[in-house]
Amino acid sequence: MTEDPDAVTRRIARAALDRDDPTGWFENLYAAAADGEAVVPWDRGTAHQLLADWIDESEPDGTGKTAVVVGAGTGWDAELIVDRGYDTTAFDISPSAIETAHRNHPASKTHYVVADLLNPPADWHHAFDLVVEIYTVQALPIPLQPDAIAHVTDLVAPGGTLLVIAAARPDDQPDTTLQGPPWPLTRATIHSFTTPDLHLIQLDQAPSPTDPTLHRWRAEYLRD
Ligand SMILES: C[S@@+](CC[C@H](N)C(=O)[O-])C[C@H]1O[C@@H](n2cnc3c(N)ncnc32)[C@H](O)[C@@H]1O
Repeated sequence: MTEDPDAVTRRIARAALDRDDPTGWFENLYAAAADGEAVVPWDRGTAHQLLADWIDESEPDGTGKTAVVVGAGTGWDAELIVDRGYDTTAFDISPSAIETAHRNHPASKTHYVVADLLNPPADWHHAFDLVVEIYTVQALPIPLQPDAIAHVTDLVAPGGTLLVIAAARPDDQPDTTLQGPPWPLTRATIHSFTTPDLHLIQLDQAPSPTDPTLHRWRAEYLRD
């Protein structure tokens, strides 16, 4: 690959967004990466640090419980969750991402499936004791985010936990100044994951270890 990997990603994303296909570029990018023609910029080869921190602090016991990882990519976060004993489902809209997840974790007990957050299986309604959402909502154009957020929250079972990790932006930064993807989330958007029975119980903002000018949210919600 001679072209700068970030430029390749931007080109692949822009081509789909320009033809009004806001989710089509994920498959194009993962497929190109599988052929060695692109690099998936968020594929860290390990679980997200803020998820690992949350696991260390909360020490959740997933025995007898279910978990789902939204927009799971190639599976690194899901593997951390399944290791805690949860019956774990991890889904992504990109078939190539799910194929790569199977290849990366051949002995895993995680159920890796292709599914669309914007049109999820009906039996996932309120089905999961732990829902992990990292960087999926922000990867969608802002007009799609409220629908995506509603579908994320719908996955959480009674008594269940939702963990959201996202890039942060100031509330006074107008949508029109963003040239996504990604479209980082305001504090107001983080609060919009709440419903009358899904409460925000902890919210932290931390600088990115690689670029301290960027901040990330870690938000935890609990359903009654
Ligand atoms: C920015 S990446 C983050 C991936 C992973 N969560 C991480 O943090 O490494 C966004 C992921 O969401 C997936 N995605 C985007 N739209 C989706 C949708 N509507 N339904 C399911 N997955 C989606 C993409 O394929 C991609 O893997």
